[in-house]
Amino acid sequence: MSETAPATSLAAAPAGPVLELHGISKTFAGVGVLHGVELAVHPGQVMGLVGENGAGKSTLMRIVTGIYGADSGGVIRFGGREVHFASARQSIDAGVAMIHQDLNLLPDLTVAENLLLGREPLNRFGLIDRPAMRAQAQVLLAAVRQQIDPASSVGSLSVAQQQMVEIARALSLDARLIIMDEPTDALTGVETEVLFDAIRQLRAQGKAVVYISHRLAEIFAICDVVTVLRDGYKVFSGPVVGLDEATLIHHMVGREITDQYPYRPAAAGAVALRVRGLTAPGISDISFEVRAGEVVGFAGLMGAGSSELGKAIYGDVAVHAGSVELQGRPVRLRSPQDGVRAGIAYLPEDRKAEGLIQAHSVRTNMSLAALPRFDRGLGWVDRHREDEAVAGYISAFAIKSQGAQAEVATLSGGNQQKVSLAKALMTEPRVLILAEPTRGVDVGARREIYSLVNELKAKGMAIVLISSDMPELLGIADRILVLSHGHLTGTFEHGRATQEAILERALA
Ligand SMILES: Nc1ncnc2c1ncn2[C@@H]1O[C@H](COP(=O)(O)OP(=O)(O)OP(=O)(O)O)[C@@H](O)[C@H]1O
Ligand SMILES: [Mg+2]
Repeated sequence: MSETAPATSLAAAPAGPVLELHGISKTFAGVGVLHGVELAVHPGQVMGLVGENGAGKSTLMRIVTGIYGADSGGVIRFGGREVHFASARQSIDAGVAMIHQDLNLLPDLTVAENLLLGREPLNRFGLIDRPAMRAQAQVLLAAVRQQIDPASSVGSLSVAQQQMVEIARALSLDARLIIMDEPTDALTGVETEVLFDAIRQLRAQGKAVVYISHRLAEIFAICDVVTVLRDGYKVFSGPVVGLDEATLIHHMVGREITDQYPYRPAAAGAVALRVRGLTAPGISDISFEVRAGEVVGFAGLMGAGSSELGKAIYGDVAVHAGSVELQGRPVRLRSPQDGVRAGIAYLPEDRKAEGLIQAHSVRTNMSLAALPRFDRGLGWVDRHREDEAVAGYISAFAIKSQGAQAEVATLSGGNQQKVSLAKALMTEPRVLILAEPTRGVDVGARREIYSLVNELKAKGMAIVLISSDMPELLGIADRILVLSHGHLTGTFEHGRATQEAILERALA
């Protein structure tokens, strides 16, 4: 017998799962969206959760956090004990934090107020201690390397900055399980790395993470195990090691997807959009041209000015200097109606705040801006043609909903994004500005959107593509312009750019 006991006998029994789900089902208005899902996440483990838009990922995690109740028969165990969280508050108190897909921040409150909501520091009079609050917020922001002013209102931040605030808040809750629902869908590589560092620390501390993303490279980069949902069924669960992307995609969609970026060179025509010396909040002295049939992409780090550029062209923010010409004619847009009339459409990066009306139907959201197109005269709308157009986009993008009359709020995040894109296309613009068009969109639907971009190019549409997704820019843009601190710092033709070269310019 050996003198020293084997190390294992002293250590606690192998830690059981921190989260265990058994037989979780969920039905909305008679439609089953989750079917008997089983899942176990262990301490120190990062589990990827993937699946097509509408597969049930967010719903499953909202059930875990008590936002939704599961159908009867399901069991949730947290830390080994069966739990029935009746609200998000209860799950947070028990040690579950969640970064929500469509960010759960209050836009009218400040960054500090959002970060410390419900746990504000008090002074000796029992009132909120503002200076202490600001200082604490600064610490939380520094942990994710953000230099955002804690006193600024959340509504004034870009989606990427809001995402970082939401991440900072979740990390600060000291939870045992952190659920991240598409935390990086508007982040560039640099901020994503900040998040990954934080995830590695959480793992080292024995915390568990559930990581939802459509950026499959991220799953391979940060996850230990991955679970796949398809149409509400768990179809796969296993270690990431030994898995390749094609196999993972096959689990997700049940078929092969080859040629993710079906690039076709531009047959560029006349200049459709000319921007000269454009200067607005966040951008300065930007000049470029987009020809009919061309896709011009914009890359840059967070805060470099890409989001601001789209808004400035579209007249969504006050422009200080410079001009925008459409088809050779100077325009100054003051409203979306002006845009529609001038033949330009804009897909905003923030579908929740600027893009869609959540309480309205898929149909109304899609066709509202395009109604003049369906006008039969005297304000009579040709409902038949409108229905046809709406149905066309629902089928082209495989939008999953309970029909054209379904409220947009009931659609999954990726499906809302597809509605937002259809809305922009419905006006049949000649110039299209796309900000993060595939934000939250699954691998199959992305392929559809890229094919559509090719078709639109062939028809002579001029497209501005603002994206934080580098492979997407490299894959489909004819030309990539790089922004840094609001200035243009580089131009690359398709095929000449690499991620490293773009990053080098983005850091200039
Ligand atoms: N409140 C609701 N009412 C009706 N249906 C809903 C509701 N919430 C979700 N659903 C439906 O449940 C299904 C699953 O949605 P969920 O948001 O969980 O998908 P997801 O996998 O997170 O997709 P995505 O990748 O697009 O975010 C979808 O078909 C959606 O329309
Ligand atoms: Mg979701």
